[in-house]
Amino acid sequence: MKISIDTGSCSGHARCAAAAPELFLLDDDGYVLPVEGEIPEELEEAARDGERACPERAITLH
Ligand code: F3S
Repeated sequence: MKISIDTGSCSGHARCAAAAPELFLLDDDGYVLPVEGEIPEELEEAARDGERACPERAITLH
């Protein structure tokens, strides 16, 4: 699994970081940072939680 983040759609709600802080980090302005590379299997559920938590649909899983 990989995570794509549409940084243009991120409005800084920070719900992704609240739902899955081990995956989603915020920059100094409160916008989510890109998540690079393959997501380990044990973090896939956290990735789904983060995706569902974003009201802007800025997070896409592949
Ligand atoms: Fe941005 Fe959505 Fe997270 S708006 S900070 S990606 S909850």
